[in-house]
Amino acid sequence: MCGIVGFSGFRPAANILIQGLKYLEYRGYDSTGIALMVDHKIQIKKSQGRIENTEKLMALSSDQFHQSTSGIGHTRWATHGKPSTENAHPHKTGHVVLVHNGIIENDLELRAGILARGHFPLSETDSELIGFLLFDEMERGHSLEVALRRVSQTLVGQWSIVIMSEREPGKVIGVRNGSPLVASIDSEGNVMVASDAQPLLPFTQSVTFLEPGEMVVGTPGLLMFFDLLTGRKIHREPTLIKWTADRMEKNGFPHYMLKEIYEQPKVFTQTLQEVLLPSSSEPFNFANEKNSEILLKAEEIILVACGTSWHAGLLGKYWIEKIAKIPVQLEYASEYRYRETCLRPSALVIGISQSGETADTLVVIRDMKRKGVSTLAITNVQGSSLAREADAVVFTHAGPEIGVAATKTFLCQSLSLFLFAAFLASKRTTQNSDVLSRLRRELNFIPKILNNISNSTIKNSESSEILRAINPILNSLGSVKGFFFMGRGHCFPLALEGALKLKEVSYDHAEGHASGELKHGPIAMLDPSIVVVAIAPQDPWYTKNRSNLEEVKARGARILGIGTYGDTYLQSICDYWLALPAEAQSIHSDLLPFIITPYIQLLAYARGVQLQRDVDKPRNLAKSVTVE
Ligand code: M6R
Repeated sequence: MCGIVGFSGFRPAANILIQGLKYLEYRGYDSTGIALMVDHKIQIKKSQGRIENTEKLMALSSDQFHQSTSGIGHTRWATHGKPSTENAHPHKTGHVVLVHNGIIENDLELRAGILARGHFPLSETDSELIGFLLFDEMERGHSLEVALRRVSQTLVGQWSIVIMSEREPGKVIGVRNGSPLVASIDSEGNVMVASDAQPLLPFTQSVTFLEPGEMVVGTPGLLMFFDLLTGRKIHREPTLIKWTADRMEKNGFPHYMLKEIYEQPKVFTQTLQEVLLPSSSEPFNFANEKNSEILLKAEEIILVACGTSWHAGLLGKYWIEKIAKIPVQLEYASEYRYRETCLRPSALVIGISQSGETADTLVVIRDMKRKGVSTLAITNVQGSSLAREADAVVFTHAGPEIGVAATKTFLCQSLSLFLFAAFLASKRTTQNSDVLSRLRRELNFIPKILNNISNSTIKNSESSEILRAINPILNSLGSVKGFFFMGRGHCFPLALEGALKLKEVSYDHAEGHASGELKHGPIAMLDPSIVVVAIAPQDPWYTKNRSNLEEVKARGARILGIGTYGDTYLQSICDYWLALPAEAQSIHSDLLPFIITPYIQLLAYARGVQLQRDVDKPRNLAKSVTVE
């Protein structure tokens, strides 16, 4: 969704804003723009499409433009009005210029009022309307801050706005009412605001997350926070972010997606080490007491999430019910929030979201808290709304994920849920200690196996062993009408995730199915134009999967099998074959999802690259879905 940056300080702002927007690219966008204060006058460069288009316009600008030390920038993901240069931000009304993230729900009423007062908006956006409101307030004699506070009271919806005015050059003001906003001041006195911490990290790791209803005012050397309603100055403690700017670079990889898939051995270890107590007599003791307490009280667990996070939730449900014997309900956040639900007072609602900003997931957590139900968040982003609003939080330590398609964060979410299951099993003694000790021991082997799979020291995709196996398969497929992913047990969530990943980055038609469900409908579509990706390791569901594979074979569909090393039966029935590593044979079947995950991700990645898609920034997708 939209991204905001603002800068005011002692350095030329243009490139800082552009670099900041590049850090926000992952959120998804269709147009971009920046506004700079040049000699007390606002100059705007904006365009549809990639940031590079705006950069080209900037290259034609004067030296003064490039020397300006304050400005604001924006990446737009269209909601009100098509993607176009006119609708791109910043929007200027008289001496005021603004960028906006979120949705103004009372835009129709506001537009009618603005037209009635004789103004003529140039764009179809809800955002531009705010500029007219600000302008009118300032015409009534209010300062920029007061005008913004007064206008904020009239806006309905979830939003963040950052503004500047030619009347107060050098001042950048931001307000948050829903959509996230982060501010910082570095040791030189450069102030920045942005939609997330990433654009600020090259300057400082000490950042302040605004709460809804707060305003930040930045001028060179000074950053102040205010309550939006009362206008009172408030003190806000900064948060120290552990991520560094270099973790946001591609480091020689052709794509972020590949880099992030290859980072999985490292981030798996990090998450394991951070979530569990390092030296403990019990194999699955949590490092954080609050997390332990809240989990132990739960007699029923409700997992809420969207997209890939929901798939991690499905794995979590299977693990928690099997290992810890606690009933788990898994819900799409966008459904759960709108339906009548009934929960026991002892229930725990867990929101899973890599970004921690997904509007639907966040609203469920807020609603539940309001109802007095315990809430816990699993998220990758420190300072995110979900992390701050839930009663307790478990961070996945995946580091920044720039590729829009979630990869390493999925693995870390899944791992966190597995650790919940094992922790609860250990405390509730639903598994004997030998089983738990084995699981703990074998979790330590997973990074090594993942490392062998991705061969992460090799950045050239052709040289990685698994891609060397996948690429010839994809090259020999010829025409394909669609991909069906199938799996049973723990491999069903992976089938769903494999299909989602493939469609996201290749735009191929792909569906994920529980193997046993194929014959209840989807089987009607099978013929040689369909490739069935069968995730069928030798696990407790293996023999049932074999029968389903025979049914697929009999309908003439082609089968790409992902299975246990040395499985000659599976290999013989499959048209194409990807064997799991030999060392995975001795791993407990509960842990196999961690080993299979890079296979489905790399398959999607390789297909996207084969079809020359923009795998890091697939069309129409946003990394952080902050609208409902
Ligand atoms: O940030 P979240 O985990 O809450 O995001 C949820 C979904 O929007 C996200 O997983 C989406 O499905 C991604 N495009 C997956 O690659």
